[in-house]
Amino acid sequence: MEKRVLSGIRATGRLHLGNYLGAVKGMLALQRDSEYETLYMIADLHTMTTPYDRKTLTSMAREVVMDYLSCGLDPEKSVVFVQSDVADLHAQLAFYLSTVVSVARMRHLPTFKDKVKQYPKHVTMALLNYPLLMAADILIYKASKVPVGIDQEPHLEVAREVARKMNAQYGMDFPEPTRFVTEGEYVPSLMGEGKMSKSVEGSYITLTDDLATIKKRLAVAPTDSGKGDKVPSTGGVANLLALIELFEGRKRRREYEEQYVTDGIQYKDLKDELAGAISRELEPIQKRRKELEADPKYVDQVIREGAEKARLIARKTVAEVREKMGLG
Ligand code: ADP
Ligand code: TRP
Repeated sequence: MEKRVLSGIRATGRLHLGNYLGAVKGMLALQRDSEYETLYMIADLHTMTTPYDRKTLTSMAREVVMDYLSCGLDPEKSVVFVQSDVADLHAQLAFYLSTVVSVARMRHLPTFKDKVKQYPKHVTMALLNYPLLMAADILIYKASKVPVGIDQEPHLEVAREVARKMNAQYGMDFPEPTRFVTEGEYVPSLMGEGKMSKSVEGSYITLTDDLATIKKRLAVAPTDSGKGDKVPSTGGVANLLALIELFEGRKRRREYEEQYVTDGIQYKDLKDELAGAISRELEPIQKRRKELEADPKYVDQVIREGAEKARLIARKTVAEVREKMGLG
């Protein structure tokens, strides 16, 4: 059997550079690798685990499909699908998996605690179950590799634990999924603290930003005097240097580091150069995106066919789990 890959991004808005470098680039690398069968999902059920707008949920999922395709995910090579189109199977498996996991294990996850802090009035069962639905997403395709950013590691740990338990207790043959690591597994925020994230205004650059917007966003990123004995390892300057490395390579970063301890860095120049490098990488994506926007029928077809292909695999796993767990 070919090894499988599964990944997903929630339908919470347009993709940003963190999603692109941390997740999508890994998806693309594995799509090119003939050793793997790749399945890439839009996790719209996961969007419902925190407050969301029901009027825009469907259109947001569609936006992520278009972002995926513009980045180069190819429906001829990968199954591109929307999670809620196979909700009956994914949610069903999540329930079966929930029988082997304790409430305490879920409550102590750092990702759960973060969300509780962020949305103290919306601590729902769906939120507590988030990692089990994600485990179901992965295990239902018996995927062994998952291209995601480093922040998702606690969820993958749960998926591995669940796979081990299902294999030991019910004789399943789930692989223990591991993360496919990319160079951009942690893209820092433009604000100088934490990671680039959709939920933090000012922290991100989206894939649809044009050069002027990218410049504007970088202009407000915090800096310092540009000169000192030691290059900062945290904060705004460290984050800008990390972005330089991601978009222009390690050598360019070293040159800036050298400048910092000698003549000093002119941040206006650094930011202009970085904006140009980011914009060059995004241009072809934005061009494809425009073509897709003009072809809604094609996007519909991708979503429909993706659901059909995903369902064929998912149905088999669910039937097998039901049988092994005593549901005949
Ligand atoms: P956000 O945190 O912006 O809401 P998601 O949680 O929807 O993003 O993440 C979708 C995917 O993108 C996941 O694989 C996640 O690990 C990855 N990702 C998100 N932000 C970053 C980042 N700043 N650096 C690297 N990967 C990221
Ligand atoms: N939890 C992931 C995130 O926040 C999204 C996701 C849902 C996912 N199901 C998945 C990622 C399965 C990889 C595999 O981005």
